Amino acid sequence: MGLLDGKKVIVTGAAQGVGYEIANRFIEEGASVAILDLNGEGAFAAGDKLGALAYQVDVTDSEMMEQVINKAVKDLGGLTTLVNNAGASVVSPLHKTSLDMFQQMLDINLKGVFHALRVVIPMFMEQEEGGSIVTIASGAGVKPISGQSAYAASKAAVISLASSVALEYGSKIKSNSLSSSYIETPASQILRDTMPEALEDVRDYTPMGRLGQPRDMADASVFLASDLCSFITGQNIEVDGGIFLAQAGLEKMSAKVTAYIEGMSEEERAAVKKS
Ligand SMILES: NC(=O)c1ccc[n+]([C@@H]2O[C@H](COP(=O)([O-])OP(=O)(O)OC[C@H]3O[C@@H](n4cnc5c(N)ncnc54)[C@H](O)[C@@H]3O)[C@@H](O)[C@H]2O)c1
Repeated sequence: MGLLDGKKVIVTGAAQGVGYEIANRFIEEGASVAILDLNGEGAFAAGDKLGALAYQVDVTDSEMMEQVINKAVKDLGGLTTLVNNAGASVVSPLHKTSLDMFQQMLDINLKGVFHALRVVIPMFMEQEEGGSIVTIASGAGVKPISGQSAYAASKAAVISLASSVALEYGSKIKSNSLSSSYIETPASQILRDTMPEALEDVRDYTPMGRLGQPRDMADASVFLASDLCSFITGQNIEVDGGIFLAQAGLEKMSAKVTAYIEGMSEEERAAVKKS
C-alpha cells in the first residue's frame, strides 16, 4: 500500500528537476499524476517515462492554465492534490535588475501559483474530501540571499500566499510550502560547472554535510500530500539539511574562536576567564 494511493495530482514544472522527482515519488506511492510544464517535449518525455499524463502550459498565462488544469482534472477523473513547483530564478544585484526581470520573477513564481489556486480552490471547496496543496518556495523567501532579491521577493510572497490559503479555506484545504537551500537540479547545473568551490562552501555550512537532492524535496512533498500530514497547515517547512541555522559570518568567526580555545592550555583558559 502506498502513502498516496488514490490521490489524483497535478505537478507543475515537472519535466525535470525537483518537479520530475516529485511526480516520480508520488507515482511510487500510488498516486495518478498529471505533469504540466512549459517545456512540452520534456513534459511528454517525462510522462512516458513515469506513466503520468502530460500537458504543455505556461503558468504565467491565466486562460491557458484554466483550460489545461480543467482538461487534466477531467483526464485524471478528479483532483485531490496540487503541487505548485514551476519556478525560475535570476541572479542580479538589485540596482541592476530591470523591471522586466523583476516582473518575470513575479509572473512565474507568484502569479503562476495564483493562476492555479484560482482554478483549483473552488474544486476543492466543492468536493466532500476537500484537497491539499504543496507549494515549492525557497529558502531565499525566508532569508535574503545576495544577488537574488527579485527571486527572493517572489518566493516570500508565495510562502505568504500558501499560508493565506490555509487560513481562508482551512476547513477543506490543507496548504503548506517547502523552502529548500541549494538542490542539485538541471537549473543549478551552471553553478556546478562554473564554481564548484562555491558548492563546497554550501556543503561546509550545511550541518548535515551534503547538498540537497530532488529526492529530499520529493519525500517532504509526499509527507505533506499524504494523510500522515493530518493536522499541519499554513506552514513553511525548510528542507535544507540545517543550513539556514548557520549565520555564515558568525559561523566562520565562531569556528576560529572554538579552534583557538581548543588549542589553549588549562592555565591559558583560566587566565582568559579571569580577564
Ligand atoms: N534547485 C534549487 O537549488 C532550488 C532551491 C530552492 C527552490 N527551488 C525551487 O524549486 C522549484 C523547481 O526548481 P528546479 O531546480 O527543479 O528547476 P528546473 O529549472 O530544473 O525545473 C523547473 C521546471 O519548471 C518549468 N517552468 C519554468 N517556467 C515555467 C512556466 N512559465 N510555465 C510552466 N512551467 C515552467 C521548466 O520548464 C522546468 O521543467 C522552483 O520553484 C525553484 O524556485 C529550487
